[in-house]
Amino acid sequence: MDGTVNSLEAVLPDYSNNSAFDEVARPPARRIKQIWAVGGGKGGVGKSLIASSLAISASRLGNSVVVVDLDLGGANLHTALGLDLPKNTLSDFFSDRVPSLEACRVQTGIQHLDIISGAQDAIGVANVSDVDKTRLLTALNSLDTDYLIFDLGAGTTFNTIDFFLSSNVGIITLLPEPTSIENAYRFIKSAYFRHLRNDPKLLEVQALIDVAMDSRNERNIRTPSDLFREVSQSNPEAAVRLKRSIACFNPKLIVNQARTQSDIDVGYSVKTVCKKYFGIEMDYLGYLDYDSSVWQAIRRKRPMLLEFPNSRLVMNIDRMVQQIFKRYNNVKK
Ligand SMILES: Nc1ncnc2c1ncn2[C@@H]1O[C@H](COP(=O)(O)OP(=O)(O)OP(=O)(O)O)[C@@H](O)[C@H]1O
Ligand SMILES: [Mg+2]
Repeated sequence: MDGTVNSLEAVLPDYSNNSAFDEVARPPARRIKQIWAVGGGKGGVGKSLIASSLAISASRLGNSVVVVDLDLGGANLHTALGLDLPKNTLSDFFSDRVPSLEACRVQTGIQHLDIISGAQDAIGVANVSDVDKTRLLTALNSLDTDYLIFDLGAGTTFNTIDFFLSSNVGIITLLPEPTSIENAYRFIKSAYFRHLRNDPKLLEVQALIDVAMDSRNERNIRTPSDLFREVSQSNPEAAVRLKRSIACFNPKLIVNQARTQSDIDVGYSVKTVCKKYFGIEMDYLGYLDYDSSVWQAIRRKRPMLLEFPNSRLVMNIDRMVQQIFKRYNNVKK
């Protein structure tokens, strides 16, 4: 793999200057300062634990937060928060059984923190139409809150990726084991191509991006660097815009269930590979220890942050939230 990475490095442009980061405009929101999304490709890697914990930690700093279960079909974020399933969920929103999304917004009992629970009728995120997805995102964007935090489902369906891309701070979580790392790369690659595909400034080369998104395409575009080379040859001006668009894609990474130093170092390796292979600036937010208190908290139906407030895991979550506030305070979409 190293050989591939090095040869690709020669082809990719220099992405070290990220000044284009703030350029893409996001539709005006009433009050929402930011959306954070927690995804990762694989099931059971701690997305719900992390989304709920970030939400509690951010709300404890006095911000109003709505945490949203976008794991449609496998929704269980309420359990991570120690709650029973609320009466109204996204199922009711999609089937117009409630007058607005606000009717699905429920207090968690934690000050400043509300939840919108996911669909319960196995709707499956892949089955949400583009119209419903847009309707949901528009409704979410008009909620009256400081922060929205999305708990995403496993997999790389377009809808999950689009929810991820709609955030200002997109967090990928993985376990330090080969299957999870592999899935995280798949998620990053899908989100990366989809981000380029959705960029209106790249309309001229959309056909090539579409080809690249099919991993077995006949033009042999296998990697982002192949795509960049093709675009540079056919349309040098678009290649400049492509480079800018790539610079706007900055996912963050959390390694969960770390037991050893080499587990922690997985985060640095993924960051390095993403830079060399995709040209992506990925920020490693840090790791969370494997901690058996997590299942104890779940069995007691209590959030980890409230049940074991002095654990290292909770301290690391609080530190991550402070980092996010400090580093990405001004990040617009
Ligand atoms: N740091 C940790 N230490 C110990 N156990 C953990 C840790 N993080 C998560 N777990 C356990 O792993 C399981 C999966 O966690 P969680 O439900 O948050 O993952 P998920 O990615 O949201 O899963 P799904 O894809 O099914 O929604 C839970 O049972 C939780 O108790
Ligand atoms: Mg989950």
